[in-house]
Amino acid sequence: MANDIPDPQPVCNPITSSAIFIVATLTAGAEPAERVRAWCADIAALVRSVGQRVPSGNLSCVCGFGSSAWDTLYGSPRPASLHGFREFGTEGRRAVATPGDILLHIRAEHMDLCFELATRLLASLGDAVSVVDEVQGFRYFDMRSLIGFVDGTENPVGHRAVDFTIIGDEDPSFSGGSYVLVQKYLHNMSAWNALSVEAQERIIGRTKLSDIELDETVKPSCSHSTLTTITQDGQEVKILRDNMPFGRPGAGEFGTYFIGYARSPVPIELMLENMFVGKPPGNYDRLLDFSTAVTGGLFFVPSADLLEAIADRRP
Ligand code: HEM
Repeated sequence: MANDIPDPQPVCNPITSSAIFIVATLTAGAEPAERVRAWCADIAALVRSVGQRVPSGNLSCVCGFGSSAWDTLYGSPRPASLHGFREFGTEGRRAVATPGDILLHIRAEHMDLCFELATRLLASLGDAVSVVDEVQGFRYFDMRSLIGFVDGTENPVGHRAVDFTIIGDEDPSFSGGSYVLVQKYLHNMSAWNALSVEAQERIIGRTKLSDIELDETVKPSCSHSTLTTITQDGQEVKILRDNMPFGRPGAGEFGTYFIGYARSPVPIELMLENMFVGKPPGNYDRLLDFSTAVTGGLFFVPSADLLEAIADRRP
């Protein structure tokens, strides 16, 4: 990536053991908008203050804005590909859109760091926002999702992660930025656990214990890994995922918080279409017979430099 690209937010930071995902809506009116803009310039300092207390804790925060919030807070220019979350699928198997103006993706090796930063960031926002969803995610054994499969294996790493997630010359006013799509999924664990391991492996497209991709001769065209492998002009296009398990066993809640970063919403939306509608239509992702998306939001992540600078910008 060229040196003149502004510093991104810590989109490509390594996967951690803990995370908090917060989605909030913006309170109507000029004063709340003013407060959110001023807050943008304080985020980095708050991360430094909290993170410095445990330097090995890898505390980071990525902040994104929904399409209509961008217009309310900052006006034009606006990120070229920012729009509302596009729904896919049919009744009973649908990627739903839910309200959300601001996303906070807080990561660290220990939940106390995430918790402290979330508390301080929200205190500083006060009633300028209302939190509509808050999920505490944890690392589950060897990077497994609650359905028992290792999650994140095919993520791009190093400069490829940057190339696939950070905007460059295609949108010069917003270079160094990124797009992020989130969905909260709830799993029907008793139905999933009633399947044989072989049936589960055909749904994911990888072996469960050893996390090896199934051979093309046995991997179904509707496997999760097949439907989420996409190409553009003959080249594979990857996204960067940092999914986290969450849940409340006592309440029967077992979930995956899906979070995917990319330099355009297009590849993530194509994956969603393949999963929920199917490729060809009807050949959908059977993981969705056991997993329900209960939230959905698309956000633009300005570069770290722009995030500080937009504190002074008005629509
Ligand atoms: C119920 C929620 C989900 C679960 C439990 C889940 C789990 C998994 C697992 C276990 C793998 C295989 C290992 C890996 O490469 O990471 C995988 C791969 C992948 N998933 Fe998901 N996933 C979920 C939702 C999604 C969604 C919504 C998308 C995109 C919109 C997505 C995109 C991908 C991609 C791109 C891969 C890598 C495919 C490859 O290159 O082989 N996943 N997922």
